[in-house]
Order: sequence, then structure tokens, then C-alpha cells
Amino acid sequence: MNYKKTIVLGLLACLTISLSAFMPKAEPKAKNLKVLPKNISKEELDKVMDDFKLALGVRCSHCHASMKDNPRKMDFASDEKPEKEIARDMMRMTAKINKKYFHKALAEGKTITQIACVTCHNGKTEPAK
Ligand code: HEC
Ligand code: HEC
Repeated sequence: MNYKKTIVLGLLACLTISLSAFMPKAEPKAKNLKVLPKNISKEELDKVMDDFKLALGVRCSHCHASMKDNPRKMDFASDEKPEKEIARDMMRMTAKINKKYFHKALAEGKTITQIACVTCHNGKTEPAK
């Protein structure tokens, strides 16, 4: 390969890489987050939601409504179900308890002593029942 050809190929490679940085990502971002960080990764979001499901002993549809035009599909961004807004308040409350009363453990990086949904719910929608 001659010198000029190497430069042209090198420039082409740079162009391809810089262009791909502006291409839309295949993974759709969550569009209606009010409590969780807006830049949360899909894996982290999935983990949080799975925790909610297990903590309350429910399915995703307990808090999430289905699509208007296709009832077999979920509309995760919709705020139609009141349980979703209650869950947001529960998230705020849980974070507040941890921040106010468990800040020492948090600062030390301990997670075991923190309050989570499951601490109260223990697999039920209403803890007292
Ligand atoms: C206890 C209620 C609850 C359960 C159960 C639940 N979610 Fe959620 N979900 C929420 C709340 C609340 C939010 C919004 C969080 C916020 O505002 O930061 C949310 C947000 C989401 C989003 C982001 C939607 C967007 O575009 O903003 C996705 C995706 C999602 N949930 C998927 C799921 C899946 C999948 C399951 C079942 C494994 C599930 N959720 C179970 C309460 C719940
Ligand atoms: C300090 C205890 C406590 C913690 C922590 C807690 N909850 Fe609750 N939660 C309750 C109680 C008590 C009720 C019942 C309130 C009522 O009946 O009015 C409830 C009710 C709910 C409800 C409405 C009941 C239903 O039928 O769905 C949802 C949804 C919910 N919690 C989600 C969560 C989520 C999600 C978390 C974690 C982010 C969480 N909770 C953490 C105590 C707690």
C-alpha cells in the first residue's frame, strides 16, 4: 500500500467514527422520569422495576397502563394508573428516610442497612395486610 492511499483510508476511518457518534442510538430512552435520573441506563431501570415487582408481589401492569391502540402492549411512559404516582411518592419517601436516618451507612457505602420497598412491603401491595 502506498503512502497516499494510507492517508485516504485513515481519513475515511476517522470520518466514519465521527459520523457514528451523531447517529441515533438504537436503545430508546425513558421519556417520563420524574424521580429516577433521566440518564439511567436500560439495565439499571430494568433492575429498579424488577425490584418494585418483587417487593410488592405484583406484575408490571399493577402500576403501568396498556397502550390505547393495542391493549396487549404496555405504555410504560403513561401516568394513567394512580399506582404509578403513589409509587413515585414512595420512592421519594424511601430516599428521604435513607438520606435523613441512614446517612452514615450511606457515606460508608453500606447498602444492607438501607430501607427499600421490600422492607415494608415484603411481597404485598399493602404492608399491613
Ligand atoms: C410499584 C409500581 C411499579 C411497578 C410494579 C413497575 N413500575 Fe415501571 N415505573 C414505575 C414508576 C413510578 C416509574 C416512573 C419513575 C420516575 O418517574 O422516575 C416507572 C417507569 C418505568 C419505565 C420508564 C418509562 C418512560 O419512558 O418514562 C419503564 C420502561 C418501566 N417503568 C418498566 C417497567 C417494567 C418492565 C416493569 C415490570 C418488570 C415495571 N416497570 C414495574 C412504577 C412501577
Ligand atoms: C416505610 C414503609 C414503606 C416503604 C419503604 C415503601 N412503602 Fe409503599 N406503602 C406503604 C404503606 C403503609 C402503604 C399503604 C398505604 C395506604 O393504604 O394508604 C403503601 C402503599 C403503596 C402503594 C399503593 C398500594 C397499591 O395497591 O399498589 C404502592 C404502589 C407502593 N406502596 C409502592 C412502593 C414502592 C415502589 C416503594 C419503594 C420505592 C415503597 N412503596 C416503599 C409503606 C411503605
